[in-house]
Amino acid sequence: KKPLNIVKMKKMKENKEPITMVTAYDYPSALLAEEAGVDMILVGDSLGNVVLGYNSTIPVTLDDMVYHSRSVARGAEHTFIVADMPFMTYHGSIDESLRGVRRLMQEGHAHAVKLEGGAEIADTVRTIVSAGVPVLGHIGLTPQSVNQIGGFRVQGKDAQDAKRLLEDAKALEKAGAFAVVLELVTEEVAEAISRELSIPTIGIGAGRGCDGQVLVFHDIVQYASPYIPKRFVKTYSDVGSLVRESIANYVKEVKERSFPAQEHVFTAEDGVVESLYG
Ligand code: KIV
Ligand code: NA
Repeated sequence: KKPLNIVKMKKMKENKEPITMVTAYDYPSALLAEEAGVDMILVGDSLGNVVLGYNSTIPVTLDDMVYHSRSVARGAEHTFIVADMPFMTYHGSIDESLRGVRRLMQEGHAHAVKLEGGAEIADTVRTIVSAGVPVLGHIGLTPQSVNQIGGFRVQGKDAQDAKRLLEDAKALEKAGAFAVVLELVTEEVAEAISRELSIPTIGIGAGRGCDGQVLVFHDIVQYASPYIPKRFVKTYSDVGSLVRESIANYVKEVKERSFPAQEHVFTAEDGVVESLYG
């Protein structure tokens, strides 16, 4: 399978074919996402929450993003990979921003980067794009600014806010972004933005009018993400319970001496066994 690219993505919008994106953070999650046939993988800084156990994305560093991105790249060699620029790595000098982009691509093996923000970061987006790097925008609820926003609030609820979001989306398109993530935006406003832009919109909690959808891996399969019911998420399985039960059974069997059993042990007749890994 050939990975998707940003030219095909725009065609998908024109053909009204929904674009699918899921986050992944390491080798196994990337392998599973690719095998499941997702169009794009996001190495999201949501890894701060669901993998590293922080209560926001703010503590996530560029080193964290590079480390996770390169493990994802090893698991999904045939999928378009976008990596998040973490908190405060693209608001200083342009040199600093470009250094971060370089690391995510050269060391993290990402194909594109995502930045949170609208018109105020358009110049930065334009410079990154002019270096040959595809940029995914991200507006609406932008978790890196949660302390300024004052919580996880739905965006675009009044005419002024809707107008601002549309202007931000247009500024990103004009700066050369290949697509824009709309997070926690009212369905009406997200639909209007999707109609106005020629580049695809990728929604999360932004309704049915977007050109694509993105969800967090751990939310889809309920993999021990601290369980907060989120209206915009659909959970398709409960992997967390399965893992917990499996480990509990292992613990129980060791305690009652039913594991290891006859078939798991070696005798003097055994020679070389299968290698541990690979
Ligand atoms: O980090 C992330 O997972 C994201 C998505 C929610 C869009 O930015
Ligand atoms: Na993110």
